[in-house]
Order: sequence, then structure tokens, then C-alpha cells
Amino acid sequence: MTAKQFFNGLLIGAVAILNWGCSGGFQSASSSNALSALSSVTPKTGPSVNAGLAKFQSGLYAFAQTANCSQCHAAAVSPTFAAADVNTAYNSAKALVSMTSPDASVFIAYSGNGHCGVASCQAATNPANVQALLEAWATAETTGSTTTGPTTGTVARYLTQAQTVPATIPLSTSGSSAIMRFDLSRLNIAVPSLAAATLEIEIQYFDANKSEYRILKPKLVNNTAAINLQGIHVYLKTISQTTPGLEDINGVAWDTANLTVPITKVTTLPATTPINVTPLETTADAVQVQSSTDQITIGFDTLN
Ligand code: HEC
Repeated sequence: MTAKQFFNGLLIGAVAILNWGCSGGFQSASSSNALSALSSVTPKTGPSVNAGLAKFQSGLYAFAQTANCSQCHAAAVSPTFAAADVNTAYNSAKALVSMTSPDASVFIAYSGNGHCGVASCQAATNPANVQALLEAWATAETTGSTTTGPTTGTVARYLTQAQTVPATIPLSTSGSSAIMRFDLSRLNIAVPSLAAATLEIEIQYFDANKSEYRILKPKLVNNTAAINLQGIHVYLKTISQTTPGLEDINGVAWDTANLTVPITKVTTLPATTPINVTPLETTADAVQVQSSTDQITIGFDTLN
């Protein structure tokens, strides 16, 4: 056997293992139509995401970061409603809010009463903002709906805005892909070095059944400092579902990402073709199609 034959043998072995590993997902994808695909996904074990947690995260929690309550209430000062771990923050905040009378919460006064001795808790507009966030949070808690959440247990801390998938998506066999770009200045929690940054993913249909997306080649450009990035999550939802939606059991290839993204400057992003920089991940993520108006949200566990 020549070296080349040996190498080809290895490659075929690798492809066979890959197919074996994914066969459950791909088989169920091709045997179900797009709209019923969700029910054929066997969720991973782990708590489902509750609508209250999602609302807290995009509401009071995001406010606490932007208003800089996190300077003290991330760890140094109890209550730790701005803790790095969103579940810790959630439990801490929840103890101070009655979900049946959110307007009575101590958060409203404290957001503007000057107790902190710095600017964060002195803005005159804070109490009204916080009141609205608490009311929305309480509504989400009391309507009690458990959204179809990511199946890996927790929502990622940083979330992009949801984007509808492109109207035209090539098959993976065609070798080409459509692109989706996420404006990282619009993360739920602002990261200063990403104020002009973009995350791009490429998207294909796995095969002619068009029941499974292949998501590949995540790229991050125009960060102004090197970024430590951990855990990339691809959430999918229909247009009417609550953000962020479902993380497919086959779509967890990037969950354990732990990388440093160097400063990557691309002055003009190509209009219709992928950005020509090295992707953050070389494996593809697989996500079942739900509808013709599916929306994707990208989540990150750590960005700093
Ligand atoms: C510089 C530090 C600092 C910052 C910034 C800060 N706090 Fe506090 N916070 C404290 C300290 C210290 C206490 C405990 C003493 C007290 O109650 O005044 C506290 C207590 C609280 C409490 C608990 C009240 C209770 O009765 O249990 C709430 C709620 C609170 N802060 C909300 C906020 C909010 C909202 C922000 C941002 C808008 C914020 N804090 C910013 C230092 C800070």
C-alpha cells in the first residue's frame, strides 16, 4: 500500500465514523417533514429553559450589565443579581421580586437612589426602566410557559439578535453555501471590543429533503481586541417562538469551543460571498428545519 492509499483508507474510516455518529439525526431528518422535525429530536437531559429566565436575562440582567450594577453586584456585594453565571443571578434577583406585584420590588428604588455612591444607581431614568423590565419579567413568569429552549441546560450568557434564515439555501452537495451575519454590537450584553464586530456563519441544507440545516464556518471579524471565546451555541426557533429557541441535539459541535480570536480586521465585508478568513471551527453543526421562517440566534458562554 502506498502512503496515499493508506491515507485514503484513514479518511474513509473517519468519514464512516462521522456518519455512524450522526446517523440517528440524519435518518430522522430525512424521514420526517420539516414542520414535524422538532418532535423527532430527542432532547438532551437537562432543565428546559423557562420563559422567566429568558426574560430576566434579556431584561433586568442585561440592564444590570449596561448600567454597571455588575461593578458591585456581580460578586462583591449581595444580592448578586448581576453574577457572571446567569442562573445564580436569576435566583438572587428572583428573591427580591414578587411576580404578582413586581412594582413593589426594592429594585425599582435602588436603581436610582444613589445607594452605590457612583453614577450607576443615580440615573433619573433608571427606576422607570427597571419597573418596565420587572413587569415584563413577571408576565413571563406568571404566564408560566416553558419555551422550547436549548436542550443543553442553560441559555448562553451572550446572545445575538435572532435572524431569519436566507430565502435561498444551497444543498451541501453543491459545495456552496448561503451566509448569515450577526451584528455583535447588538448582543444582549455589550462587549466593548465587539462594538464593530460581525459573526458570520455559512448555511446549507444537508440534502434534498431540506429537513436539516448544516451550519458551518463561524467567523468573527472586526474585533478591536483579542477575544477569549468559549462555547458557541446555535439556537433555532420559528418566527413566533420566544428567543432563543432550540439547540438541536445534533447541533452541539461548537458547545465546547474555547478559543482566542485575534484582532481580525476586514475593512469591507464581501456582499454575497463568505468572508475570507480562517473559521473558528472546522466541524459543521446540524440543526433540524422547523419552518420556512426559521430564525437563528447565536449564543456564547464567554466573551472577554
Ligand atoms: C459601587 C457598588 C454598587 C453599585 C454599582 C450598585 N450597588 Fe446596589 N448595593 C450596594 C451595596 C453596598 C448594597 C448593600 C447596602 C445597601 O442596601 O445600601 C447594595 C444593595 C442593593 C440592593 C439590595 C436592597 C435590599 O433591600 O436588599 C439592590 C436591589 C441593589 N443594590 C440594586 C442595585 C442596582 C439595580 C444597581 C445598578 C443600577 C446597583 N445596585 C448598583 C452597592 C452597589
